[in-house]
Amino acid sequence: MSQRGIAGSGGDLFHDSGQDGLMHRAFLRGAGFSAEDVRNRPVIGIANSASELNPCNLGLNRLAAEVKRGIREAGGLPIEFPTISISEPFTRPTSMFLRNLMSMDVEEMITAAPIDGVVLLGGCDKTIPAQLMGALSANKPATLLAAGPRPTSCHRGISPLTVDDAWPFCDRRRVGEVDDAEWQEFEGNLNTDVGTCNVMGTASSMAAIAAVLGFALPDHVFADSVSLARRDLGFRTGLAAVAAVQRDQKPKDLVNLASLENAFRAITALGGSTNAIIHLEAIAGRAGVEIGMERFEQWSRSTPYLTNVRPGGEMTLNDLEDAGSLPALLTQISDLLHADQRTVHGERWADLLAATEAPAHNAIRLRETPISAQGPLVVLRGNLAPNGAILKTAGIESDGPLQHRGRAVVFDGLEDLNNRIDDPNLVVDASSVLVLRGLGPIGAPGMPEVGHIPIPAKLMQQGVTEMVRISDARMSGTSTGAVVLHVSPEAAAGGPLAYLRDGDEVLLDTVTGRLDHLVDEAEYLAREPFAGPERPNRGFAQLHFDHVLQADEGCDFDFLRKIASSNSTNNRFTTEEQGGSHDDRN
Ligand code: FES
Repeated sequence: MSQRGIAGSGGDLFHDSGQDGLMHRAFLRGAGFSAEDVRNRPVIGIANSASELNPCNLGLNRLAAEVKRGIREAGGLPIEFPTISISEPFTRPTSMFLRNLMSMDVEEMITAAPIDGVVLLGGCDKTIPAQLMGALSANKPATLLAAGPRPTSCHRGISPLTVDDAWPFCDRRRVGEVDDAEWQEFEGNLNTDVGTCNVMGTASSMAAIAAVLGFALPDHVFADSVSLARRDLGFRTGLAAVAAVQRDQKPKDLVNLASLENAFRAITALGGSTNAIIHLEAIAGRAGVEIGMERFEQWSRSTPYLTNVRPGGEMTLNDLEDAGSLPALLTQISDLLHADQRTVHGERWADLLAATEAPAHNAIRLRETPISAQGPLVVLRGNLAPNGAILKTAGIESDGPLQHRGRAVVFDGLEDLNNRIDDPNLVVDASSVLVLRGLGPIGAPGMPEVGHIPIPAKLMQQGVTEMVRISDARMSGTSTGAVVLHVSPEAAAGGPLAYLRDGDEVLLDTVTGRLDHLVDEAEYLAREPFAGPERPNRGFAQLHFDHVLQADEGCDFDFLRKIASSNSTNNRFTTEEQGGSHDDRN
């Protein structure tokens, strides 16, 4: 089919009086759209990431119908299209490996399609960040609707049962406390409907970020995937999408350092996922903004942690909704927010919060009685993590600051971990520091959520339930523990973690923010380092290997960020930056 107006990609193409307009309308008519439909405007694309390979997002098909109703009600023309969808449990080697690919899919589809704006339908952990990144790069008006968390369930007296209950259950199986019958029964009890993880994990954190940044409706952010409130959000998202186009509210108008700070402070008050740091840095990079670990640390230290919700707390997302959801929470930190930033409706957050009631009950604590005066995210630096690492203190069993000195037990990748962690002869005690390396952005590849190293079975049988763990990997937002994550630069890029050996003393101190090995530096750097993977010889894996940035830069591809990487040698760590003498792996 010839296209005359190949330069344009907006909905105006449907109103062209010549060949292009005729063909655009004719193809939709053939798909069942009416003569009136195809003349409506604006044209709103619906980028739907529903997939049977991603049950977290499967409820989006039903919600898409509500969004369309809203768009039509406001006079617009909705056109739904699929994008790739990344599932946390089903994607190998890890969903993060494909986040940037999904962002490219979303960006190019928005750019290429004859639409004036888009509604992004996302949910599972990487899908919302990928959509926001792609929408920012495409920069057409964009509105987002999250799939919403799946309902809670119950299992043999555990009620409500939420996804984080799976981790201790699996640990009980490892030490022989769960028989085959209960193992199978649990499989049918854990997830009783579609939707995202039903705790304050990455999916819920990213849904909140989308709302604070002005992409998603601010109310009922944590409403169940199958609730009436979620369906109503769908309809109102359709209305909001048309209004956003009419106001010409572009993604890059919404994302700036002030709105990013608001988003991170909200996540801090929520006790949100550690993954949010990586995704926020990547989102910022698409808008030409660099946040940096220092700012994250400063914002975390000056924001109270207010939300008593799983996995770090005791209550559920339903309780959080019932207490007033995101707006009620934000009333408690309104003095810390840049109040002139905009909601999805284009209004100032200050005006919305002025009309919002305080939390209805203690699922959201009042400012005067926080769970802790500072956020649960601690940024660590030191000779093991020159570019930073993070630790989420919410949910750690020992209250208060964490200061620990112990001997390293080092695992090189997942196979090594799985082969040895439960070996009765493993030299380890409760004071040891478990280290898992080779699982950063390049190493795995894709920085999987495996940093939550299991406690060795022989220690669990002695009653040990908490140990200091360190990794260049990430951790599920549904996990907790004294786990240092995102060590940057990673071992596979030549970071100092590559030189650590069994028995080395390691110091972790959340008071001073330090993560150090206590080995003589010259001796340390003279060692043979851990060897990362070979460069793949083709395809996306090679593109990823060559261009993925480290965790402190959001793991985006260097060529997709609007700002240059601060690492001049793309994604590899050099001797000069480390101040040492080992080979430059570039
Ligand atoms: Fe999809 Fe948790 S696995 S949201």
